[in-house]
Amino acid sequence: MKHEIFEKNSLILLIGILVVVSIGGLVQIAPLFWVESTIEKVKGMRPYTPLEQAGRDIYVREGCYGCHSQMIRTLRDEVERYGHYSLAAESMYDHPFQWGSKRTGPDLARVGGRYSDQWQAEHLINPRSVVPESIMPGYPWLAESKLDMRDIAQKLKALKLVGVPYTDEMIEKAVQDTISQVSPDTRPAREFAKRYPKARVAKFDGKPGTEPTELDALVAYLQMLGTLVDFATFDASGPNLR
Ligand code: HEC
Repeated sequence: MKHEIFEKNSLILLIGILVVVSIGGLVQIAPLFWVESTIEKVKGMRPYTPLEQAGRDIYVREGCYGCHSQMIRTLRDEVERYGHYSLAAESMYDHPFQWGSKRTGPDLARVGGRYSDQWQAEHLINPRSVVPESIMPGYPWLAESKLDMRDIAQKLKALKLVGVPYTDEMIEKAVQDTISQVSPDTRPAREFAKRYPKARVAKFDGKPGTEPTELDALVAYLQMLGTLVDFATFDASGPNLR
């Protein structure tokens, strides 16, 4: 019996197991790196605007992921509470993704549009002012901090390197677009809207002035979450995939 060699020698058995398991692993995992359909493109997904991207970086900096997930699972209770389950395509421009693994607070994958900008701003400054029983910490300094835009074009450039389809024009106009998104009814805002169709232009932090604050960026980001794909027309069986 040849398999006696394996049964009587644990080291050879171990090597044998490793060989067999890695073949199985390779067959399953390797194709995912090349197959085009690993992430199906879905209509509506666009790269984040520079302001939203800056807000996302503040989200990461402040550790919001420590209490909030951004991934709605395909379970009935989750779908009833948060909305349509998350699609892989909805995180395709996230580097790194913010799925998270801790829900001290609710999932935020579809929080965009659920509250007004004013609610979001007040909630971030002092959560207890709008949700009296909240245990979420306040982030009052965001309202006072001017958004640092010096490296914003570099950020888009880096994201382009890992596959986010920013155009040269988007990178070149990154600072201007950041300001435009908080300057409703201006000519630059209309130009911005051409580069980022359907992106909202608003005074997210509720303050006058065209100098974006960190609060502007974070609220713009939160208000976009989960709003890019139109689930009124989305059909998981295919026709809406692009
Ligand atoms: C210590 C845990 C904790 C941290 C850290 C935290 N949150 Fe929360 N968050 C909560 C809890 C609990 C709630 C539910 C009560 C409430 O609405 O305030 C909540 C609610 C929210 C809501 C409303 C969600 C909804 O659907 O009602 C938003 C938006 C939000 N948090 C954003 C953030 C952002 C952005 C950050 C980082 C700047 C952050 N949170 C950091 C615990 C946290």
